[in-house]
Amino acid sequence: MSAQSVILPLPSDHARFIVLRLKDLTISELKEQLEDLFNTRDRLITQHPNAQIKTAVAFGPELWAQLYSQSPAGFKQLDPIQGSFNMPVAPADVLIHIAAQRTDICFALSQAFFDGIQDKVEVLDERVCFRNFDGRDLTGFIDGTENPQFPDDRAETALLSEDAGIFAEGSFVFAQRYAHNLDKWKKLKVDAQEHVIGRTKLESIELDEDEQPENSHVSRTVVEDDEGEELAILRHSLPYGDGRGDQGLFFIAYTNDLSIIDSMLIRMFGTSGDGIHDRLLHFVTPMDGAYYFAPSEDLLEEVLEG
Ligand code: HEM
Repeated sequence: MSAQSVILPLPSDHARFIVLRLKDLTISELKEQLEDLFNTRDRLITQHPNAQIKTAVAFGPELWAQLYSQSPAGFKQLDPIQGSFNMPVAPADVLIHIAAQRTDICFALSQAFFDGIQDKVEVLDERVCFRNFDGRDLTGFIDGTENPQFPDDRAETALLSEDAGIFAEGSFVFAQRYAHNLDKWKKLKVDAQEHVIGRTKLESIELDEDEQPENSHVSRTVVEDDEGEELAILRHSLPYGDGRGDQGLFFIAYTNDLSIIDSMLIRMFGTSGDGIHDRLLHFVTPMDGAYYFAPSEDLLEEVLEG
């Protein structure tokens, strides 16, 4: 068994995210389209072996229940949050994560998937994303510093273990697009921005404990288990945008335990009980959000053949 190809490697320079509901598309038509997508992907990998072409396909809980007789333990839909800030949820059936070193290849894969079904599906989002300078979010801060970097750590963070049986090497996915208010953000001086994030801007060094605000993004997203061990998720988020101001981050994280994401989100949005929320939310707004399951390559093949 193996994980779908986008999950474990370090991110490539370009990505495209497709979020959709089936609407008039039947499940067997979806399976055919995914086969076409994978055939095109495999052909392009042969033609462009250095382009780091990778994909993951993940399904919302409702569609998964129709695709397969069992669900992995702990798989559920994201709950909206009404706290200091509101966090919406936009349930979807399918999330496709395409990544490569070339944006034309990401585009070609989207074309292959949508060919002939454009009018049958409801596309909630198709986001073209890019690596920005040294892996910086549009706030100018390096995003991903505390991400697990080595393959074993990435696998341990993202993938379900052998105990999950048929679901082993699968991964839960959280995707949520954020829109940034960069005009407001730019009004902050760099040291104030550093207090919002909790790290330095140039080199992404974590602020010392005595300087780290309790409402910084880092303070709100560091969560621990009962033994005080920090709990990680595997982030693959990338910026998107046009020059006129529709700019932000497509946040996406892979995990073997959705309750870790739940804990981070209630701490960010201010419903964890300590009365604190993430100050970053004064500058970025979540526009949607949902949970998915990305089965292993083998289980995906079985589902597509079934
Ligand atoms: C627009 C939205 C967001 C932006 C711009 C953003 C940006 C950042 C930045 C710059 C860092 C510090 C560098 C790093 O370790 O990666 C960071 C850390 C982190 N973020 Fe976010 N983030 C966003 C949303 C989220 C969300 C929604 C979650 C979780 C549900 C999250 C979870 C984390 C985690 C776990 C860390 C590492 C904390 C640590 O261990 O120090 N972030 N983020």
